[in-house]
Amino acid sequence: MRLLPLISSDTLKSKMKVSLRGLLLWLLYYRQRKTRRSSPLFSDLLYSSSSHHAYARAVLQLGKVKILSQSFAYLMNNRIQGDYAEFGVYKGETLLEAISAAKVFEQAGMRFCVFDSFQGLPSIRSEKDIGVFQKGEFAFSYEDFMANLRKERVDLERLDIYPGYYEESLSKLNDERSFSFVLVDCDLYASTVPVLKYLEGKLVQGAIVAFDDWFCYDSPNKGVRQAVSEWLIDYKTIELIEYENFHWAGKAFIVNYRS
Ligand SMILES: C[S@@+](CC[C@H](N)C(=O)[O-])C[C@H]1O[C@@H](n2cnc3c(N)ncnc32)[C@H](O)[C@@H]1O
Repeated sequence: MRLLPLISSDTLKSKMKVSLRGLLLWLLYYRQRKTRRSSPLFSDLLYSSSSHHAYARAVLQLGKVKILSQSFAYLMNNRIQGDYAEFGVYKGETLLEAISAAKVFEQAGMRFCVFDSFQGLPSIRSEKDIGVFQKGEFAFSYEDFMANLRKERVDLERLDIYPGYYEESLSKLNDERSFSFVLVDCDLYASTVPVLKYLEGKLVQGAIVAFDDWFCYDSPNKGVRQAVSEWLIDYKTIELIEYENFHWAGKAFIVNYRS
């Protein structure tokens, strides 16, 4: 005997689809009720323990890339020429970004001068440096730094690398450089003082000087900000015109020679 189906097979299929969809929706609803939230917050994704560190690093690096590309566009459009200097180069990540930006923004003649101990931060000797950074932080060897550059096939001919602690290495340097972009990324008051002294007479009119650690510390009387205010009192030849803030701690200025 052939049983007549109560419903056609098409209707059966569509009914099954509907109930499967219903089951899925119910499961989703149940999950949401369990987590007591209708949709995840964006910050849940950003600050979850596994991604927080990567996120914080990405924000910092993005800030540096932004100030680099903006400054290089400024240099190109205003026809300002000179070399690049980075005080505190660590693994070379920002240097690599600068080399790429120089290609895009037509800084063909730019040389890249980098200055680092390749042993991390020196010991903390000034009270204007107490509280945030520690001796040896950011230690990365010269050999590993060079390996990073080679991996990215950097043209080493365009690079000048000055290993050593600034307190010693910069005072011995007797070079005649003209910088159009300077990144001061050495964290400490005591490190920034010799850097600024070295820069006297080496910045071209309209150059950009970006301080990566401007808003570190809880007071303008510490760290990089203190070093710059002291420098500007002594070195009256120039003024620094505010240009741009970048990431949570950085600030960039345009150099203007007083007439
Ligand atoms: C935060 S890291 C630089 C990060 C790098 N600019 C980047 O964006 O990837 C700070 C660097 O400054 C260097 N540094 C700080 N004080 C120094 C000093 N007095 N002499 C030489 N190097 C110093 C450290 O060795 C370290 O590599």
